[in-house]
Amino acid sequence: MNLQTFFILIFLLIGVTVLLAFTDILLGGHKQTLLRINKENEFPVSGRGTSTLLDALSENRIFIPSACGGKGTCGHCKVKVESGGGDVLPMEENFLSPQEKKEGIRLACQVRVRDDIDINLPGDLLEAKEYTAEVVALEDMNYDTKFIKLKLLSPETIDFKPGQYVQILVPGYEQFRAYSIASPPSQKDLLEFVIRYVPKGLCTTFIHKALRVGDIIKFTGPYGEFYLQEDSGKPIVCLARSTGIAPIRSIILHLKEKGLTRATHSYYSARKKTDILLDDELKAIEEKHPNFFHYIVLSRPGPEDHWEGETGYITDTVPKYEESLEEKEYYLCGPPEMIDDAIDVLVSQGVPKEQIFFDKF
Ligand SMILES: Cc1cc2nc3c(=O)[nH]c(=O)nc-3n(C[C@H](O)[C@H](O)[C@H](O)COP(=O)(O)OP(=O)(O)OC[C@H]3O[C@@H](n4cnc5c(N)ncnc54)[C@H](O)[C@@H]3O)c2cc1C
Ligand code: FES
Repeated sequence: MNLQTFFILIFLLIGVTVLLAFTDILLGGHKQTLLRINKENEFPVSGRGTSTLLDALSENRIFIPSACGGKGTCGHCKVKVESGGGDVLPMEENFLSPQEKKEGIRLACQVRVRDDIDINLPGDLLEAKEYTAEVVALEDMNYDTKFIKLKLLSPETIDFKPGQYVQILVPGYEQFRAYSIASPPSQKDLLEFVIRYVPKGLCTTFIHKALRVGDIIKFTGPYGEFYLQEDSGKPIVCLARSTGIAPIRSIILHLKEKGLTRATHSYYSARKKTDILLDDELKAIEEKHPNFFHYIVLSRPGPEDHWEGETGYITDTVPKYEESLEEKEYYLCGPPEMIDDAIDVLVSQGVPKEQIFFDKF
């Protein structure tokens, strides 16, 4: 190829590139996609159609709950989409009731932002922030559960309601997992957590195997509709299994600070004695406060447990000790099966659903 042909080819190539770019602009390809929230605030969306709504929100420092890290398995990232966002995906169907679909509720992690999108977010979600904290304690509570204390560095304090949770970021994976705050809201600069190791689990492997005192981690929050109803004077009954005791501890410690004027009964279910968590602390509160009881129910005690207390299902124990079930308020936290069984039992005994609050995990 001689020099002249070479320059002609280069010239043609530049011409075609300019033409394509110009056509792209004319067809709107370079139009900035916008995320509009509550008809007030507009944010640019990067990724040219590849970003999910969850990514777009987090890029703009709006942190909504996403307990499964965007895998579409927790159903926590529900957002009301006013316009845009395409059709509901099969993955979302399991989490959305017919009414929610009618109202435009979507899973933010499944919505691709290809065009401008308008969404509606409640005020408290807009208040969730990103926090940096130092690990100041990391102690074994039993064979698979650790007690962790985080000292807040920036911002230095957090406001939350007893029962709410935050989402811890797993460094290097940019994935979040939800963990209930186990300390009372009066402790604004030091958060406590009860975290059980899940074999091969991303976040719990990081926390149990890699995290050290002195490490700095990030989390977002606070989140959750599961929290103590402060305006109600009804007696309280708490049911927890495993690390479900974490938010229940926050509620109980908060009530204790207020003098435990509301009668509070806590039921904790574990398989064996080695699975019991926070027993000493809760029993110590029981000794000092006549309004507070803490019952432990073992579902599968072995001979080595020498257990003489309650056994079987927690849902059988509660009606045995509680009178006038329908006059009380219930806080349930633990595995989904336990929560579903407990709700069935309580409702069948006349407890209105509005008096039952729960978090499944
Ligand atoms: C609102 C909320 C509050 C929570 N609070 C706490 C808390 O206070 N303490 C706590 O320890 N956990 C809590 N969890 C659970 C926590 O968010 C994680 O799901 C859990 O720690 C596992 O995360 P991972 O990254 O280690 O496992 P992943 O990498 O997410 O999962 C690895 C594998 O383990 C399975 N798996 C996930 N969770 C469990 C489980 N619990 N039991 C058995 N198998 C499981 C998954 O299906 C997957 O196959 C809470 C969850 C929610 C939604
Ligand atoms: S983040 Fe869990 S379903 Fe969307």
